[in-house]
Parts: sequence; C-alpha cells; structure tokens
Amino acid sequence: MADLAGKKALITGANGGIGKSLVTAFMNHGVSIVGADQQTNMVDADYWLAGDLTDTKYCDMLPHNAANLLGGLDIVINNAGIIRRGPITSATDDDFIASFSVNVEAPFRICRAAIPILAKTKGSIVNVASCWGIRPGPNHPIYCMSKAAIASMTQCLGHDHAHEGVRINAVCPNEVDTPMLRSGFSARGLDPNTAIKQLNSTVPLGYIAEPGEIADVVLFLASNQSRYMCGALVEVNGGKPVI
Ligand SMILES: NC(=O)c1ccc[n+]([C@@H]2O[C@H](COP(=O)([O-])OP(=O)(O)OC[C@H]3O[C@@H](n4cnc5c(N)ncnc54)[C@H](O)[C@@H]3O)[C@@H](O)[C@H]2O)c1
Repeated sequence: MADLAGKKALITGANGGIGKSLVTAFMNHGVSIVGADQQTNMVDADYWLAGDLTDTKYCDMLPHNAANLLGGLDIVINNAGIIRRGPITSATDDDFIASFSVNVEAPFRICRAAIPILAKTKGSIVNVASCWGIRPGPNHPIYCMSKAAIASMTQCLGHDHAHEGVRINAVCPNEVDTPMLRSGFSARGLDPNTAIKQLNSTVPLGYIAEPGEIADVVLFLASNQSRYMCGALVEVNGGKPVI
C-alpha cells in the first residue's frame, strides 16, 4: 500500500483500542495523522484535536481543522464509538441519546463536512461499524441500531459520492480485544482475561481479533488497493457469525 505514503488522515477515537492501532498502522505507512479524542496524550500522532463528539460544532469543524493542520486531507476514519448494554426495558434516555450522538450523529456531521474537502483530493472515508450493525446480537438493541445506522449511511454515501471520486466504505468487526470489550466483562463481574480465553474458543480462527487485524483492513479500504470499492461493508470476524 505504497500509495498511502504522504497522505493526510483524520482518525476519531484515536486513543481507543482500535484507534491507537490505526494511528500506528497509518503512521508506519507514511501517513500524517490528526488524532481526535477526548484525551489526546496516549499515542503518537502528528497533531491532536481534543474534543467531545457530542459537541456538534466540534464535529462540524473537525475535517476543516484537520485539513488546516495537515495542509490538506485525504482520509477520514470515523472510528470512535460507545456501547451501552442491556435490553430496551433497562435502557435510559441518556443511553439512547449518547449512543446515537457518538455513533451516528458525529459520523454524519464529519462525513458531511469532509466530503467537499475529500472531493478535491479524491480521498476516502472509512467508517467503523460492526457485524452487529448487519445482524443484531442479543441484548444490545441501542448499540446494534446505531451500528446499523452507520452501516446504512456508509452504503448511501458510498453510492452518492462515488461520482466525485470520494470512496466511502466501512469495516464491520466482530469481537476485538479492546477496552470497550473488556469493560463489558468487568461490568458483569468477570475477569476479562478468563472471559476472552472462553470467547476465543467461539471463533473458528481460534481467537478474537486484535486491534491490528482491524487496522490492516482499514488500511486496505483507505488505499488505492480498494480503488473500485464504494459503499462496501467489510466484515472482519475470524469466521464467527453473529448468533
Ligand atoms: N471492540 C469491539 O469488540 C468492537 C467490535 C465491533 C466494532 N467496534 C467499534 O470499533 C470502534 C472502536 O472501538 P474500540 O473497541 O477501540 O473502543 P474503545 O472504547 O477502546 O475506544 C473508543 C474511543 O472513542 C472515544 N470516544 C468515545 N466517546 C467519545 C466522545 N464523546 N468524544 C470523543 N471521543 C469519544 C473514546 O475516548 C475512546 O478512545 C467503535 O466504533 C466500536 O463500536 C468495536
């Protein structure tokens, strides 16, 4: 993926499990990075734009501000996300509002602002959706609904903006070993290491994904190797279906 060298990218959720791996992978390919997150000191990036994705103005300005720092913009990765667990009968208004704000509205605002900028560079957007946005897993209706929305947005925008030379695709992971996954086990009083060992045995390839396995697919979707892909939802699941 030599074509990535010299490109300029904005990555949201850059301090998270997958986000840190994305920053490292893209930097290793010679890409200049603006990382966006609430906290900004956890991993090397060329620049940081700290902020809260529930702040609509922050989202609206993020692509423009990243392009100003980098001297242009070629790649946007909407990676940040949150998960609120439990059936709808125990969900609060805040669970719904926060989930849709971070997982759907923020990528919507960022895509809307980024597409005219990326049209100048024939750039691309990669959204991080989820297998659970394609086929819902149990007892996470708000998360699944929000990931279905970003998956649908990817398909819509991928087709609507191909004529401008902007490619928009999504990666849809199943379980990945990150703080997001581990926090679910801790919340249920389980030891995350033991729980992940058990989870590994449910995956046909023998283990749940490490963040780097997702980052490699994002690299592909952002690179010229995927130049004919628009609006694709690429599942990265080790052979494990959603059941
Ligand atoms: N871990 C998994 O099993 C898994 C599976 C499928 C999809 N995903 C998706 O992958 C993406 C990355 O998840 P992860 O597992 O690395 O999670 P993570 O919790 O490790 O990282 C998420 C990052 O997003 C940031 N973020 C959250 N809310 C924010 C806000 N309001 N403003 C700014 N930043 C905010 C957090 O600070 C954090 O750094 C998410 O979209 C998630 O839904 C994860």
